[in-house]
Amino acid sequence: MSALPSGPRGFLRVNWQLMRDPIGTALRWRSQYGDPMTYPDLEGKPCLVVGSPEGISSLLSAPLEATEQALVERLSAFLGESSVLTLSGPRHAAMRKLLTPPFHGQRMRVYGKQICDLTMDHARKLPPGLKFKPLDFINGIGLEVIVRLIFGVTAPERVALVEALVADMRKAFPRAIIPMLIPWLRRELWGFGPWARMQATLRAVSGFLKEEIANHRAHPTEQSDILSLLIAARHEDGSGLTDQEIIDQLHTLLFAGHSTTAMALNWALYFLLKEPQSLARLRKELTELGPNPSPELLAKAPFLEAVCHETLRLRSPLGGIGRKLRTPLTVAGVPLPAGSTIIVNILWAHYHHDTYPQPEQFSPERFLTRSYSPFEFLPFGGGNRRCIGAAFALYEMKLVLATLLLHVDFELLTTQPIRVVQREFLQPHVPLEMVPHPRTDTAVRHHDTLRS
Ligand code: HEM
Repeated sequence: MSALPSGPRGFLRVNWQLMRDPIGTALRWRSQYGDPMTYPDLEGKPCLVVGSPEGISSLLSAPLEATEQALVERLSAFLGESSVLTLSGPRHAAMRKLLTPPFHGQRMRVYGKQICDLTMDHARKLPPGLKFKPLDFINGIGLEVIVRLIFGVTAPERVALVEALVADMRKAFPRAIIPMLIPWLRRELWGFGPWARMQATLRAVSGFLKEEIANHRAHPTEQSDILSLLIAARHEDGSGLTDQEIIDQLHTLLFAGHSTTAMALNWALYFLLKEPQSLARLRKELTELGPNPSPELLAKAPFLEAVCHETLRLRSPLGGIGRKLRTPLTVAGVPLPAGSTIIVNILWAHYHHDTYPQPEQFSPERFLTRSYSPFEFLPFGGGNRRCIGAAFALYEMKLVLATLLLHVDFELLTTQPIRVVQREFLQPHVPLEMVPHPRTDTAVRHHDTLRS
């Protein structure tokens, strides 16, 4: 590679700074080094970092065969060899073709009422007046959405079992990140150590999913859950997915879809409680929809959508996406050979002064007055790997947020200034704490209340 732009040096230093202050660090680097810049990957090789709409477009609009997922080996160690997140080329395109229809437009309607009902069930269990952590609470709703709507599990004891298995897996995950990044640390050590623990929890979830697949195959019915749709899905040559391929996709949907949506909702509640005018405008919009608005009506509410978009702009759960070049390509004006790694810095795009005046301000109105190109607003990534669950995630965000705000008043207990840190996602440096109070105003009398 010749004439690469400069940038910060030292893999550990770069990552330490990004973990401590992902937004401040990214913006400081852009002023210091410009866009594009480079920083080192784990092996010390430079990755090109881009964030301007033109730079992003030059990568994400490239022909299908030009790029593949970065970090494939590391993600496969966790998600499986046939996960859509790690496949490339024709196998990736074929898997996406099977996975995409269950998540699209019309199909979402089937899930709307269930998402609202599940949210109400969880809201009823919130003890009025007592402190709770919204992220744990929303994670509970999100997990049940995945278990019931995606895995198709309905029997209460099976739901409880898989939720416990997933909770174990989530606990094991943070400690397994280092061995996931550094393959020679992946030792099972007679069942001890973070990697062994992670593998054991993965096997337990896979075992559960295998039983569910066998059960679904033995009793095929007209089910709307995504597991049933995956079992019925056929490639162009008429072949279906093997059990292992289905298990890998279900792991991927759980990994990609659960905590991302929950973290975004956690931030949405936070911003609304910090900005009472936006909260009041949203509540007004929702209550004007009349008693018991349908999920479809809620999903079309413009300010609700703007609040979700603005939250995803300011706190995109993933600050960046990566691609590896399979063929030479010029990205952001820099000619790169095959094998190069490129990071799209979503934060650079979302905090661009020209695109978003006063970018650090929570201002949902900006999404009502202007539309943004896929290279200016990309919390779900883009190109041929854009998030498959984007429509589902946005729909879930809108319905959970609307249902909660129609029935509960939240009081933010956390008074200290919140710093954003990068862990699994962009998250607050301490867990937020809130207190729920049942809503009592006239607009809500028509609805089930928390006490019902
Ligand atoms: C707010 C919630 C979510 C956010 C912010 C989010 C974001 C993303 C991002 C940034 C990517 C990488 C895209 C790229 O490389 O260009 C991605 C990929 C993916 N997401 Fe999501 N996601 C969310 C929810 C979901 C949900 C609910 C599901 C499904 C249940 C899901 C399934 C996937 C899958 C399967 C991929 C891999 C696509 C591929 O490689 O072809 N995501 N997501």
